[in-house]
Amino acid sequence: MKKLTLNVGKKYDILIEKNLLDNCGKLIREVSKAKKAGIITDSNVGLFYAERVKESLEKEGFEVFIHIFRAGEQSKNFESIYRMLCFLAENTFTRSDIVVALGGGVTGDMAGFTAASYMRGIDFVQIPTSLLAQIDSSVGGKTGVDLPQGKNLCGAFWQPRRVIIDPEVLSTLPKAFFTDGMAEAIKAGCIKDKALFERLEKENAPDFIEDMIYSCVDMKRKVVENDEREKGERMLLNFGHTLGHAIEKYYDFKGLSHGQAVAVGMVLVTRASEKAGITEKGTTERLIELIKKYGLPFEDKAELAELLKITRSDKKMSNSGLNFVMLKEIGESFTKPLTVEQTEEFFS
Ligand SMILES: NC(=O)c1ccc[n+]([C@@H]2O[C@H](COP(=O)([O-])OP(=O)(O)OC[C@H]3O[C@@H](n4cnc5c(N)ncnc54)[C@H](O)[C@@H]3O)[C@@H](O)[C@H]2O)c1
Repeated sequence: MKKLTLNVGKKYDILIEKNLLDNCGKLIREVSKAKKAGIITDSNVGLFYAERVKESLEKEGFEVFIHIFRAGEQSKNFESIYRMLCFLAENTFTRSDIVVALGGGVTGDMAGFTAASYMRGIDFVQIPTSLLAQIDSSVGGKTGVDLPQGKNLCGAFWQPRRVIIDPEVLSTLPKAFFTDGMAEAIKAGCIKDKALFERLEKENAPDFIEDMIYSCVDMKRKVVENDEREKGERMLLNFGHTLGHAIEKYYDFKGLSHGQAVAVGMVLVTRASEKAGITEKGTTERLIELIKKYGLPFEDKAELAELLKITRSDKKMSNSGLNFVMLKEIGESFTKPLTVEQTEEFFS
């Protein structure tokens, strides 16, 4: 079993191994004396895995309750959170009980936020089941919910007690979501892990899935340890996301998926920074090749000027302008603040 330890506040382990799901009860018991465990999952993941997780928890003496919500980002709202909180209250969960987030990023974010809010905070564990959740969203303690005004506008930093990653569950993940998650793996290689980037170039990700998850989580672990609350280094994780988010907004979240938009965003910013002599020559070409290899788009017909307009209203905009993450070369990144005028010029 691969194991990483994240050292923030109460430190916690991230465990990675195929078929860990059948052992999750024991792994959760090691970090919790709870009487009750509340599995929060969505309508797809629940069908596949809720019973297996329940059985494993019951073997360890937990009294298990399951709450299932309708799968998809459109469920990431306060109505769902309200139902989750009521689910815990109706089943008389106390401060010493535990929430088990079983699912993709939507589940993890909402179950985590529910755990952060119920009785001012109870323990939770993450069992991420999508590629994005396994390599990114389940680690680092960001939890939250969308508002009608924007994605993830409400939330809390609330770290899980443990993260249990079973790569085997990816066998039931629809291919489009696997592809989507690959954008974050490519991002991880770009910003801090040249060896991962090169391995993604030479080999095929599914052939070294455990190693890939490990590398991505390890990269995120280091960044979060240095900057839990996104005051500095954690911003590097936004590589490709500022313009990516603008692309998603441009299509009112009904066009490109998140991963597709991030892939295009990474290319747009790298092309501009390479042209400006900031990024090593040839980097954009390498990035495009890798993005294509994993079935993601590297360009889009959305007007850059329109995207820049949208970025101005983006939540990451500070008073003085925008922070863009750029590459010096593959595996080395930094943030560069640009004023509104500089942004126009930079991308012209
Ligand atoms: N907290 C963070 O740090 C962070 C980071 C990045 C993204 N996010 C959030 O993550 C969310 C996106 O995550 P996502 O792409 O995992 O979305 P998701 O949770 O909706 O999962 C994608 C789809 O795959 C299905 N699914 C998941 N695992 C499966 C499995 N093993 N078998 C079959 N079906 C499965 C789900 O039911 C869903 O339909 C967004 O809301 C985003 O804001 C959070």
